[in-house]
Amino acid sequence: MVLEVGFGPGIGLTEAWKRIKDGKGRVYGIDISQAMLESATHKLEKQIASGKVNLAIGDVMRLPFEENTFDRIFHTNCFYFWSEPLTCAKELRRVMKPEALMITGMNVAGVQKVKGDGYMKYGNPDLEMYLETLKSAGYSEIVREDIKHEGKEVAHTFIYASPNKN
Ligand SMILES: C[S@@+](CC[C@H](N)C(=O)[O-])C[C@H]1O[C@@H](n2cnc3c(N)ncnc32)[C@H](O)[C@@H]1O
Repeated sequence: MVLEVGFGPGIGLTEAWKRIKDGKGRVYGIDISQAMLESATHKLEKQIASGKVNLAIGDVMRLPFEENTFDRIFHTNCFYFWSEPLTCAKELRRVMKPEALMITGMNVAGVQKVKGDGYMKYGNPDLEMYLETLKSAGYSEIVREDIKHEGKEVAHTFIYASPNKN
């Protein structure tokens, strides 16, 4: 069971589906935007028809899932739009199985460019704040991976985190 929150046009969902399509897995997606739901539903029409992909509109702050549901959760370029990051991180942890893994991705270079060009009207893409939020929300084994562009600036960052077992 895999969940993506903030799936946007459905690029990550498509990649997740490729990995589960021949097995028993299921991919779930939640996005707060009706326009994004429609876009991803169109893109993943066949996958949804197969019954292995389920998309819905919703807020990461209140997920429509039972606790201990997911083995993997991922979200890319999303956490900095959450109005209450601690509440959202706790909510994601609630629906994770004890051995689950959450992967956060951020296009650091892209976000910096958008911010520099003055197009980022809201959102807080502060990775240090996000890491502290994960610790406060009860995650452990938090690992940060910075992928550098030609060995210089950080282009992408991934953060891996699991529910605290205590
Ligand atoms: C910058 S887009 C990223 C889309 C996609 N993950 C990607 O990287 O291509 C951010 C997405 O997060 C969604 N989003 C923002 N806040 C959300 C929330 N509180 N709950 C669910 N989705 C949210 C937006 O609607 C949008 O689709």
